[in-house]
Amino acid sequence: MENVQLTVNEGIATLVINRPKQLNALNKQTLAEISEAFESMRNDDGVKVVIMTGSGEKAFVAGADIKEFANFSGVQGSELAKTGHMTVFNSIEEFSKPVIAAINGFALGGGLELAMAAHVRIASDNARMGLPETSLGVIPGYGGTQRLPQLIGKGRALEMIFSAKMIDAATALNYGLVNAVVPQEALQATAENMALGFMKNSIVAMGYAVEAVNAGMLEGAIGYDVEVQAFGDCFETADFKEGTKAFLEKRKPEFPGS
Ligand code: CAA
Repeated sequence: MENVQLTVNEGIATLVINRPKQLNALNKQTLAEISEAFESMRNDDGVKVVIMTGSGEKAFVAGADIKEFANFSGVQGSELAKTGHMTVFNSIEEFSKPVIAAINGFALGGGLELAMAAHVRIASDNARMGLPETSLGVIPGYGGTQRLPQLIGKGRALEMIFSAKMIDAATALNYGLVNAVVPQEALQATAENMALGFMKNSIVAMGYAVEAVNAGMLEGAIGYDVEVQAFGDCFETADFKEGTKAFLEKRKPEFPGS
């Protein structure tokens, strides 16, 4: 695996998303490798708890790889979201062992969505979080329209989606988006301590707890299908073409639809 690193130490698996030059953006290969890593841990009795983090000091994950999808059609956009949901984001949310996201910097778009698919989030004090997709003319496509309101409530979630702005770690803590904020140098140790605390209890029971908690959210499950379709529909708009072009040309977009 090129874009992720997986190490296991005394029951704690650390999965590092490792494309630091691209701020760990999720291209197809990285998503496939994350999926492969979780599959390898599923039945590995040596893995009790998983910590997910980003490589480097700047970013957890800065989103889906904009360069990769800028020229996609609507069908390709929906397919991208659907495959992501099925192979990565849902399987992390449903993973039968605890998954902790250690957010060590920017967690934006698909990066925040990855952190939200984890069961628990801890952030470093330099972390910045947001769903900037509407600034690109698209919507969150990896579960963000569903998991963000579940975690912080509809009003705050829609404000974050509409404004496309980042919030800092203190605000994320205040919103309940993260469980704790610690200095960056203490992040990994804090996540490991939390994992060790979990490991004193029954991991088998935790698997059932995950199943039960997720079942409570099922009423809104159709929202994920609507997200996949709406994400694809955005790809057919002039606003999406302008939004992604502007990002790649490093300028502010001028949305024709605004
Ligand atoms: N996709 C592809 N490349 C990305 C990226 C992304 N999401 N985020 C950063 N990069 C790349 C940059 O293009 C740049 O590459 P080059 O050196 O080749 O130009 C490199 O990473 C470093 O980034 P910056 O120079 O932009 O770093 P910065 O410190 O000036 O800014 C940042 C940091 C504010 C995070 C900025 O990189 C940024 O805004 N990134 C995009 C964030 C974003 O919009 N994410 C949402 C993506 S869409 C999505 O995720 C859809 C979905 O729900 C499925």
